[in-house]
Amino acid sequence: MQSSDKRYLDNTAPFSSAGLIIRQKEPRNLEAPFDRIDSYLTPTELFYIRSHFLTPKLDRASYQLRIDGAVRHPFTLSYEELRNMRSETRVATLECAGNGRVFLVPQVQGAQWELGAVSNAEWTGVPLRALLERAELAEDVCEIALEGADRGTPKEEPLPPGPISYVWSVPLAKAMQSEVLVAYAMNGRDLSRDHGFPIRAIVPGHYGMASVKWLTRIEAVREPFRGYWQTTDYAYWASKGGEPVRRALGEMKLKSQIARPRVYETLPANRIYTICGAAWAGETDVIGIAVSTDGGQTWAEADFVDPVRRHAWRRWRFDWLTPKKAGEYTLLARAKDANGVLQPTEHDQNYGVYVINHSLPIEVFVEDFEARRLDAEMPSSQYDSI
Ligand code: MTE
Repeated sequence: MQSSDKRYLDNTAPFSSAGLIIRQKEPRNLEAPFDRIDSYLTPTELFYIRSHFLTPKLDRASYQLRIDGAVRHPFTLSYEELRNMRSETRVATLECAGNGRVFLVPQVQGAQWELGAVSNAEWTGVPLRALLERAELAEDVCEIALEGADRGTPKEEPLPPGPISYVWSVPLAKAMQSEVLVAYAMNGRDLSRDHGFPIRAIVPGHYGMASVKWLTRIEAVREPFRGYWQTTDYAYWASKGGEPVRRALGEMKLKSQIARPRVYETLPANRIYTICGAAWAGETDVIGIAVSTDGGQTWAEADFVDPVRRHAWRRWRFDWLTPKKAGEYTLLARAKDANGVLQPTEHDQNYGVYVINHSLPIEVFVEDFEARRLDAEMPSSQYDSI
């Protein structure tokens, strides 16, 4: 009766509408519903939001982008001037370095991201390289520092002496790659405020922290920029000649995630269920996906839905004939990159609360609904005689 009524919205369908999930209300930290990766590009309203400070209010008319530091010709651009420059459009996956943090045991500090601090969009803007060439860099420039208009006091110790801006520096070699954009549009529309309106950087292949939103300054620096975000927050322990040294995060690591089924979902026994997910890698391509439905004892190849495209995720799927035996099963997905490297099985402790790129276990219940229905229908007298 209800379903023949066109106004009736079947919100039990797998493709029904969904919204973002709040991890923190202010500053805005909202997670994408990763189980809804039905489209290759994440719709802008479902793209995750990760902001350290309150969203600054900028407008097109007064917006200015300053390019200076170790350059021969510092200059300032208005929004209009930037829009009139030659632009490029590219698809890039952004992943927050803390994505999947809730899977770490024991629990660690920071936003408890599940699987949705990752999304994929099409970005349009001016290659950063064009601005750097116009400014003429000094010979000894090593990094390009990107500064956003947002300011505040961060939470993690050691705290800086006062409020700071969000600044991230990108190695010069990466900044000069044609894929790095000073972007004004996302999925064909002007950036939304939460995603960096009016202008942001997009650094494909690097963790999301490099894609500075509300970009107002581009500074060429002669020494590695050692600000709060590089040294205290998004830093990890690397090894130099056997000694641990603190380094800033950079390239995204190889990773795949299962989108469906969801964690602790109940599936019917002896049916074909399509396990699906997405995989991505920083500066290489994902060329293989294997899926395990028995906690990693055996693996089978999954099929890709999307072609290889550098810096963008590839969705994949795998048809699983669910077991006849009811019980709990652990699903895993494992990506392989173009160099033959496999996604790790464990979290690397040197990355602390970041880079959670190991295969994340998705535990599901398989239930024999038919047997349960028969049990329920059985007359109670039959139980009495047992
Ligand atoms: N840029 C500014 N100015 N301020 C920020 O807090 N967060 C960074 C990056 N750029 C941030 C920023 C982080 S940690 C991530 S993961 C991405 O923005 C998230 O981009 P999104 O909110 O558009 O998804």
